[in-house]
Amino acid sequence: MSKYRALLIEKTEDGFTRRVVERDTAELPEGDVLIDVHYSSLNYKDGLSATGNPGVTRNFPHTPGIDAAGVVVESATAQFKPGDEVICIGFDLGMNTPGGYGQRVRVPAEWVIACPDGLSLHWSMVLGTAGFTAALAVHKLEQVGMTTASGPVLVTGASGGVGSVAVMLLATLGYEVTAVTGKAEQHEFLRSLGASSLMSRDDARQGADRPLLAETWGGVVDTVGGEILFNGVKSLRYGASLAACGLVDSPQIPATVLPFLLRHVNLLGIDSVQLPLAQKAEIWKKLAGPWTLEGIERLEERLTLDTLSPAIDRILAGKMVGRGVVDLRG
Ligand SMILES: NC(=O)c1ccc[n+]([C@@H]2O[C@H](COP(=O)([O-])OP(=O)(O)OC[C@H]3O[C@@H](n4cnc5c(N)ncnc54)[C@H](OP(=O)(O)O)[C@@H]3O)[C@@H](O)[C@H]2O)c1
Repeated sequence: MSKYRALLIEKTEDGFTRRVVERDTAELPEGDVLIDVHYSSLNYKDGLSATGNPGVTRNFPHTPGIDAAGVVVESATAQFKPGDEVICIGFDLGMNTPGGYGQRVRVPAEWVIACPDGLSLHWSMVLGTAGFTAALAVHKLEQVGMTTASGPVLVTGASGGVGSVAVMLLATLGYEVTAVTGKAEQHEFLRSLGASSLMSRDDARQGADRPLLAETWGGVVDTVGGEILFNGVKSLRYGASLAACGLVDSPQIPATVLPFLLRHVNLLGIDSVQLPLAQKAEIWKKLAGPWTLEGIERLEERLTLDTLSPAIDRILAGKMVGRGVVDLRG
């Protein structure tokens, strides 16, 4: 097949439009590996790309989709052969390179990893960049000493993609999890993922004017930034760490050095995009093995190219719950 379907974002005088179009493989950029995409997923960043955020995508018309999982059709390297099941997340995919919201992508071999044994293409995209990022955050927190004995772990933006997988993974690993959510109607869902207590976003913002808060958390996975992030830092137990993953509330943080100087705490950066491929493969291997998340299907909302556009609006409004998985087969 040389023709394939894709979601196309076009820039007009009035803003950005979305439509599903037929494209030709010959129009894809040069690259080592041509992939038939079976599944993609919906991440907050895809919403930013689809609405012309220049920090994500500058060149239009454009097909977003920072995640793709599928089967190799052609390969210019010995590393991959036709028929191989592969995953591609991050790097420039879906940013200024046509992404996973097309049934085909062509990418450099350095962006591609073999789908590990124990993980199907489908489940790799239920995780997607969001789930991968949650795992990377937990991995880094554990590397700097977080254990189940460190104390309860706070997860912010808990009903979203990164947050929901973080809650589930931490609970699976035996951590006591407190989930911050703005969606009171999702409390039961978050409890079913393993959260043992819930906190409202308003409560998570309390004390933003104070230099330090009670030492409470053995670790924090933050997806929202802003006051909530730094309240997390101010309420870490002595020597504990917060992993900063996202900015849906704000990229600014109202910070002082006091928690660092008085409590020996750490603010850790998490980047799933440029992380070297070998480290990406290590995280995927964990997710396919010891960190397998039983019941992860509860997170999935199945989408297609034709139902993607309203879901993009929902994720930008903070209304998405769990993980949107885009089925591109057929
Ligand atoms: N560092 C990386 O490599 C990396 C990778 C993936 C994602 N990210 C970033 O992580 C963030 C989350 O991504 P995602 O795909 O999980 O998005 P998502 O599915 O939209 O989840 C974000 C969640 O944050 C909460 N939220 C929304 N607006 C908020 C606000 N104004 N204040 C406080 N909480 C708010 C909502 O959960 P509740 O209603 O439950 O509060 C929402 O569901 C984004 O900023 C994304 O760019 C970074």
